[in-house]
Amino acid sequence: MLVILFLSLLSSSSATPGDLFHTRLDNVTNKYEGYRLPNTTIPFRYDINLNIPEEALTGGNTSYSGTVNILFEVSESTNKIVLHSLVDIYNLSLSTSNSSVQIVNNTVDKTRETITILTATTLSANIDYTLYITFNASLEPVNMLGFYRSEYTVANGTKEYLATTQFESTDARRAFPCFDEPGFKAVFTLTLQHPVGFEAIANTPVMSTFPTAKSITTLFEDTPTMSTYLLAFTISKFVCMKFITSDVDGIPISVCARSHFENDTILALEYGVQVLDALDTWTGYPYKSTNIGKMDQLAIPDFSAGAMENWGMVNYREYLLIYNPEYTSNLYKQRMLSVIAHEFTHMWFGNLVTLQWWSYTFLNEGFARYFQYFLLNKINSSQNYEIEKQFIIEQQQTAFIVDSHSSSGSLTSEAFTPKEINNKFGTISYNKGASVIRMVENVIGSTVFQTAIQKYLANNAFSSTTPEILWNTISNDVPNGLLPDGLNFTQVIDAWTYRPGFPVITANLRGNNVVLSQKRFSYNTSFSDSTQWYVPITYMTSNKNYSTNATWLLPNSTLTLDARNFSWLIINHNSAGYYRVHYDTTLRTKLVRALLEDHLQITDVNRAQILDDMLNLARGHYVKYSEVFQFVNYLKKEMSYYPWYTAVRGLNYLIVRLGLESTLGQRVASLLLDQFNNVTANVSYVDLNATGHVDSLKWPLLWSTACRLGHPTCIVEAKKQFRLLRINGTSINPNIRDVIYCNALRYSDNSSADWEFLWKRLHSVDQPHETIYILMALGCTKNKELLSYYLDQSINSSSIIRVQDVATVWSAVHSSSSVGLQVALEKFMKNHSNIINYYSGGITLLSGIADRFTTEAHVAQIQNLMNQQESNSTLGKAVKNALDSSRENLKWQSSIKNDLEAYFGIVEPSSATSFGVSMTLLLLSLIIIV
Ligand SMILES: *[C@@H]1O[C@H](CO)[C@@H](O)[C@H](O)[C@H]1NC(C)=O
Ligand SMILES: *[C@@H]1O[C@H](CO)[C@@H](O)[C@H](O)[C@H]1NC(C)=O
Ligand SMILES: *[C@@H]1O[C@H](CO)[C@@H](O)[C@H](O)[C@H]1NC(C)=O
Ligand SMILES: *[C@@H]1O[C@H](CO)[C@@H](O)[C@H](O)[C@H]1NC(C)=O
Ligand SMILES: *[C@@H]1O[C@H](CO)[C@@H](O)[C@H](O)[C@H]1NC(C)=O
Ligand SMILES: *[C@@H]1O[C@H](CO)[C@@H](O)[C@H](O)[C@H]1NC(C)=O
Ligand SMILES: [Zn+2]
Repeated sequence: MLVILFLSLLSSSSATPGDLFHTRLDNVTNKYEGYRLPNTTIPFRYDINLNIPEEALTGGNTSYSGTVNILFEVSESTNKIVLHSLVDIYNLSLSTSNSSVQIVNNTVDKTRETITILTATTLSANIDYTLYITFNASLEPVNMLGFYRSEYTVANGTKEYLATTQFESTDARRAFPCFDEPGFKAVFTLTLQHPVGFEAIANTPVMSTFPTAKSITTLFEDTPTMSTYLLAFTISKFVCMKFITSDVDGIPISVCARSHFENDTILALEYGVQVLDALDTWTGYPYKSTNIGKMDQLAIPDFSAGAMENWGMVNYREYLLIYNPEYTSNLYKQRMLSVIAHEFTHMWFGNLVTLQWWSYTFLNEGFARYFQYFLLNKINSSQNYEIEKQFIIEQQQTAFIVDSHSSSGSLTSEAFTPKEINNKFGTISYNKGASVIRMVENVIGSTVFQTAIQKYLANNAFSSTTPEILWNTISNDVPNGLLPDGLNFTQVIDAWTYRPGFPVITANLRGNNVVLSQKRFSYNTSFSDSTQWYVPITYMTSNKNYSTNATWLLPNSTLTLDARNFSWLIINHNSAGYYRVHYDTTLRTKLVRALLEDHLQITDVNRAQILDDMLNLARGHYVKYSEVFQFVNYLKKEMSYYPWYTAVRGLNYLIVRLGLESTLGQRVASLLLDQFNNVTANVSYVDLNATGHVDSLKWPLLWSTACRLGHPTCIVEAKKQFRLLRINGTSINPNIRDVIYCNALRYSDNSSADWEFLWKRLHSVDQPHETIYILMALGCTKNKELLSYYLDQSINSSSIIRVQDVATVWSAVHSSSSVGLQVALEKFMKNHSNIINYYSGGITLLSGIADRFTTEAHVAQIQNLMNQQESNSTLGKAVKNALDSSRENLKWQSSIKNDLEAYFGIVEPSSATSFGVSMTLLLLSLIIIV
């Protein structure tokens, strides 16, 4: 699955649950009693029949009915069967091949989402049992999970409906009763009865169809042995583009979407063929040999995640599968290719070889994230993407951010409840998982890595794995001499797998030596953790001496490097390892001098890495921001995307925490803006395609930052291009269209007219990328009434804004200006019950808003909300979390103020004044709440 994370870069608490590695399991077992199914009943085949009536797909009642036959055996004598179910069961029976087994009773447990069946006689091993269940259920109409309904409007204004599935992680049980754990793999036979005029698509090819006057019954071929969360089906009027000329191993590939996009699916089809081919080659395990029989990719109008790797039927949000050069930026074009690579990687990592339990989500998602980047090196159309550099700044550096919180969980942190399982789909499993995998490859070499992974896949095909299985497979293949003496790979990788966090390596110059030591990195100065890692040390020096093979820094030990022959030294060359480096003042001064003299003597990735380490060391109070600004000042000469990306992220964090409109926020903004003159001189806003792929990523980043901070040329240009679009219909380069739209509204002289122009355009242009640009831009206005109207529309079921986009809309509003933040906060306070009723993700909007708080007055407003809630209600808990994290943020803000004020020469304002202001706001907020 590909999840869309908002605010992961700003969020002050990690999304992963606390690490339970060192919690005694007997304690844990009590609390989580009943969440795991007993392992005594083992299903091996499902025969599912679902009957979806016409009204469910014409906008009426969403009820459907179904039956399921589950064949299972027992591993030891038992008279209890426990399985998952969130459907309405009205008949149950149990039999062997020649007799029936009497059922005493069954008990439904709503909390654990299970049904427990007691049998009159004891079931015994070596007999196949069949559990037959008939049930009623409904297509979920709003929240896009389980078996759910989606809708769209065709050109003549008619609404069309479709039904599709999203089962990962724990929602197959909403569609039919099943043993809904990834380790229970079985063969699925599916039969769908659905209205005429619709076609059914599922994991495997259609075996036969039986049309009658009122309905069609579609039978599908058996699936391979697989987990319940990978089952999928869609009933729609989609149009499919098929790949016919020369297919991968004779596997038919197609892309299906609503007919409106019939001409915009070709690129996804081409990418799909290239990706599947590259994965076939890399894994040495042809897709065809799994007997899934086909590969369909579907663009779903309403979809909660980014994409889902159902075996043979991958679902995507429309913007990740639809390509139209008039609307699609290079950024989204790359994202399409990388998401296809991510999902197709799951056909091996996840579908063929599955995690045994969700605690090991990184075994699926870490590999998918890794190949989402590195497979692109094997594909012709992405040779100029500089994919490894993008990986470092986008994945590794963001993993560090989340993994720097004391609450961060390990790659293998435990999960029991659906909510905890859901939380495993976050930055740690994806970004850290992929970063650790890359570090492993860097240590053992690409050839050994590929050979070992091929064995891992072949040995565990159609089965389930744990990290031990993966690491032991690699361990057997690692050549002598690459690891610390006397250790095998399993031992070396242990702390990286089972412990949260990562080390910061301190580098101290001592005479002729540099001495390295380690400690867990944390943003929290009072946090302490004695974890030690086996750290692969590489370096690069001013005289181009470097090590590619790692030297090891061992736990509770130091490593000494000879420092006689260089002026500067960079540890962790090209960010090959998952750790940060903290240089002492002397070594740091040498680096600053090198950057200011001739930054090109240091590679662009190393420059980005130094900036990222320094900005985050400052965030964690290892150094002062004033010391880091020396590094920032070299950016005046910087032309490369990567250091800019890192610098903008790191300084933007500081600006957000201070508030852009505060005195200090303004100073930091000017400091950043001062760096832009060189890099933005002579860049056309129009001809962005001519300068190469990475440049087409760089310019939108730079211009959006510059415009936001008030760069005059940028603002003039944005207004000009927007005016030309409005008056003459002059098209704006899609690579920069979102920047132009947003800033034209932000700096508009006629906010209503400009805003309405885009609002109308949202209704008239039905293209997924244009929709995203506009949804983001509409939040950029500083007009309170428009922002308030916009938020109202986002939670109005008859507006054009889909539930999947509500979080985007709110984020656009609250992150775009202090006016937007205030409007969003007030809207949430007044309407929280409507919002939470409107859709299940409503409650999460609060944490995004609270993450932007910069004053006591902000906090005081939700303190009031807190006082009105039951502390253990869902909202009460969310408010408590928001309060705690915003208080932490304010504390952090005050902890860096003295240093910044001294650096910028600001005289501290009297505390009486600021108290006066916050009291006024506090009173105002009281009025608002009532
Ligand atoms: C069980 O948990 C409690 C707190 O929830 C803790 O005080 C206690 O030490 C734990 N017991 C064990 C054996 O880990
Ligand atoms: C089933 O689970 C129990 C403990 O819950 C464990 O001791 C046993 O080894 C497991 N059996 C199988 C076949 O996995
Ligand atoms: C089911 O049967 C068991 C054993 O007779 C009994 O303890 C339990 O209370 C029954 N449950 C229900 C819901 O009737
Ligand atoms: C609208 O178009 C669809 C096909 O795209 C057709 O099935 C439907 O009958 C049309 N409705 C009207 C009111 O013309
Ligand atoms: C797709 O392209 C064909 C040929 O250019 C055209 O006739 C058709 O209208 C296009 N379809 C859509 C939905 O734009
Ligand atoms: C690695 O070493 C440990 C400790 O000596 C041992 O228990 C383990 O079996 C070894 N693993 C492999 C894959 O050799
Ligand atoms: Zn995934």
